[in-house]
Amino acid sequence: MTNAGLPRHVAIIMDGNGRWAKQHAFSVMMGHRKGVETLREIIRYSSDIGIEVLSLYAFSTENWSRPEPEVAALMRLIVEFFHSEIDELHENKVKIRILGDIEGLTASARDAVIQAMNRTRDNTGLQLNIALNYGARDELTRVVNSLVQDAREGNLREAIGWEDIADRLYTSGQPDVDLLIRTSGEQRLSNFLLYQSAYAEMIFPQKLWPDYTVADYQDALSAFARRERRFGGRST
Ligand code: FPP
Repeated sequence: MTNAGLPRHVAIIMDGNGRWAKQHAFSVMMGHRKGVETLREIIRYSSDIGIEVLSLYAFSTENWSRPEPEVAALMRLIVEFFHSEIDELHENKVKIRILGDIEGLTASARDAVIQAMNRTRDNTGLQLNIALNYGARDELTRVVNSLVQDAREGNLREAIGWEDIADRLYTSGQPDVDLLIRTSGEQRLSNFLLYQSAYAEMIFPQKLWPDYTVADYQDALSAFARRERRFGGRST
């Protein structure tokens, strides 16, 4: 199979778990649990077809403002996910990176993600980025502080270039986002990978994340393949 037309990096904002739960008169956590099933399928399919990088927005720096029981349950769900999925992910050569400040996570979530990153460190398959306690403004603030620190220590060339910044983003060494998908009909980036998505094609399916299927994902990939990308240039 050829990779022509396939995005190298897909980023997904998995939105609509709460609305799905409400529609079915379930608790919000049932929505998140169902959302994990979708995410398992999408990871598996992305790995099978040879996507290089898949980034999933699991918990933002702003999500801490949700009711405490929901935050605690989401953290438990994340730990559970890593414990139950890590064997299969590792077997499929998936390499895990966490985007975000893991110091701010609960101890059990931090331990689970550190273990998952360490175990899959040398894998060569799908690069799976899970954004946890992530926000693009927070990410850029960290980059600026690290540049200032280096400048103070005399370790910087005179002018800072984009490469100096990109090298310090959580996604350092990875290609930019080619395709960004946000489910549930909302059309916002919500502080997700703002700089990495500078030239991303965006697709906003109406379906809520728990209802999103591999067939919907295939539609998004086909739509992406039909888009003309100019990166600020002109088509000839
Ligand atoms: C958005 O739905 C979803 C989230 C804030 C969390 C996404 C998390 C998961 C799918 C599961 C945990 C992740 C991993 C990696 C195991 P929402 O609650 O904002 O939906 P709403 O807008 O309909 O209320």
